[in-house]
Amino acid sequence: MIKPLIAANWKMNKTIAEAEDFAMQAKKKFAAIGRDIIFAPPYTALYAVGKILKGSPVHLAAQNMHWAEKGAFTGEVSAAMLVDAGCDYVIIGHSERRTIFSEDNRLINQKVVVALKSNLKPIFCIGETLEERESEKTFDILRQQLQQGLNNISSDDIRHCIIAYEPVWAIGTGRTATPEQVEKAHSFTRKVIGNLHGAAISDNIPILYGGSVNPENVSGLMSQRNINGALVGGASLDIESFAKIVGF
Ligand code: PGA
Repeated sequence: MIKPLIAANWKMNKTIAEAEDFAMQAKKKFAAIGRDIIFAPPYTALYAVGKILKGSPVHLAAQNMHWAEKGAFTGEVSAAMLVDAGCDYVIIGHSERRTIFSEDNRLINQKVVVALKSNLKPIFCIGETLEERESEKTFDILRQQLQQGLNNISSDDIRHCIIAYEPVWAIGTGRTATPEQVEKAHSFTRKVIGNLHGAAISDNIPILYGGSVNPENVSGLMSQRNINGALVGGASLDIESFAKIVGF
């Protein structure tokens, strides 16, 4: 059984003071929750939030990283710097990175490789656009994203990965995929990983759903066999709403 995992992706929101306040409340609320929780604050708040969360069941993630270990990359942040700031996880290949910042599967794969080498666990995001879904390309796209994005990852390393299925049309739109649609995509994802690394490994990889998750729809989603958790954007910004999702 995979322990339910709820991750908060704050995107480009919250000042350091706001993030610290949220983390202090979360530390109290989730002290004995028995669920895995991850916060992904913006870079500027990582260190401050990490310090507060030390010793709590809430882990720290970055929202992105650069693929190089160091060097002349103005404005970028390396995996080692994220570890130094207290991160255990990093979100890689979020659809906003893919579309707004033109990240492709090859570049995303480089990031996954470097993250694992640096002892950061990737939260690797995949998902189809509305156009791809409507033209019945969803499974081809997911297969391509998985095969290319996780290229050259050993079976030993894949155990440290978390997959987040986030259909682009459901992100920030208020339009959630139905539990049945998500379950189909997740069981397909597990099958693709199983073909690459065997069912014993694939069955233990957490697959999260992301896309307009809120306190009302979370339990329906979590009742599905292959939905192991959620990656929450908008509804993770408010502690009361996030706490309801965590306690689904
Ligand atoms: P949303 O974002 O919950 O606001 O749809 C999810 C995500 O982008 O990870």
